[in-house]
Amino acid sequence: MLPVEVLEASAKALIDFQGKGFGIAECSHRGKEFDGVLDEAISRCRKLLDIPESHDVLFLQGGATQLFNTIPMNFLSGSADYVVGGEWSKKAASSAQSAYGEKIRIIASSEATNFDRPPTGWKADPTAAYLHVCSNETVHGHRFAEWPEHPNLVVDASSEMMSRPHPIARTALVYAGAQKNLGPAGVVLVIVRKDLYPRIAKSVPKIFSFQALAEAKSCLNTPPTFGVYFLLEMFRWLETQGGLSAIEKRNAEKASLIYDAIDGSGGYYKGTVADKSARSHMNVTFLLPTEEATEKFVKDAAKAGMVALKGYRTVGGIRASIYNAMPVAGARALADFMKSFAKAG
Ligand SMILES: Cc1ncc(COP(=O)(O)O)c(C=O)c1O
Repeated sequence: MLPVEVLEASAKALIDFQGKGFGIAECSHRGKEFDGVLDEAISRCRKLLDIPESHDVLFLQGGATQLFNTIPMNFLSGSADYVVGGEWSKKAASSAQSAYGEKIRIIASSEATNFDRPPTGWKADPTAAYLHVCSNETVHGHRFAEWPEHPNLVVDASSEMMSRPHPIARTALVYAGAQKNLGPAGVVLVIVRKDLYPRIAKSVPKIFSFQALAEAKSCLNTPPTFGVYFLLEMFRWLETQGGLSAIEKRNAEKASLIYDAIDGSGGYYKGTVADKSARSHMNVTFLLPTEEATEKFVKDAAKAGMVALKGYRTVGGIRASIYNAMPVAGARALADFMKSFAKAG
């Protein structure tokens, strides 16, 4: 879900940008109009996330998947540590392993319990090139309540970016595919610490080099111009909502409405996450007693106007994605529906 105000403002700019008689997708990415959009997007992003000058802000293409391939290409030296807590961190680690073999060390995994929690009890090598984690596992519905500590922490924050304040200052690189919580598919937001650039080998093609991309202000080639504009509108909207601390509070309220409906159902619904303190505030996952009940739940919910609730195939059950734009009323409607469905079932 995306905020109606952001959708409307972006649609308007697509038709006519600031009354100029042309739309934002119709002007050059090297012209002053788009340059202004880019500057404002970078500066609002910096303000919202409190990004220090030590880090660059990039808007790239290729999605989060390209990012988890280009990160080792740029920054791997010696070995890198990966924590695998779900489908996405597993994909990141496997992809890096297929290119770099044993230099990519999986130091912890919760796969043995079907990724029902973030791995615990691990310790990363502080001298590793970096530690890679996925802060919110979209499929499995859990998160690191606190991002881990490492001198070179790399975070895939795709499904929770800007859902709460993030400790950017103590990260090496954070990336997020926009399509979950920020805007349309086609842009990935990257925040990268500049002191990593000397590690980039000359053999890395410029188009994949974070330094070259930063020096060209994300315009080494044509950036995803409309996507960047949409993100700018999203950043403006987030400010009107009171910034990330206010959003965090609202997201916690939404999540607890649904988790309370699970926990108060007398066992009818079962949360899929073993450790309650790691429950995601963005993707709420739970099971019903049978497949038939799950199918009926999805159908009846759709009739009541609540869609996209089917869980991912490896987890099953229900996944309610309650990204920033979902109002508290939406979460409450689902919680109420869950209560009456369980009563009738
Ligand atoms: C946490 C996470 N990482 C990575 C991805 C992959 O993103 P993309 O399709 O932009 O490559 C997703 C997509 O759902 C995701 O949720």
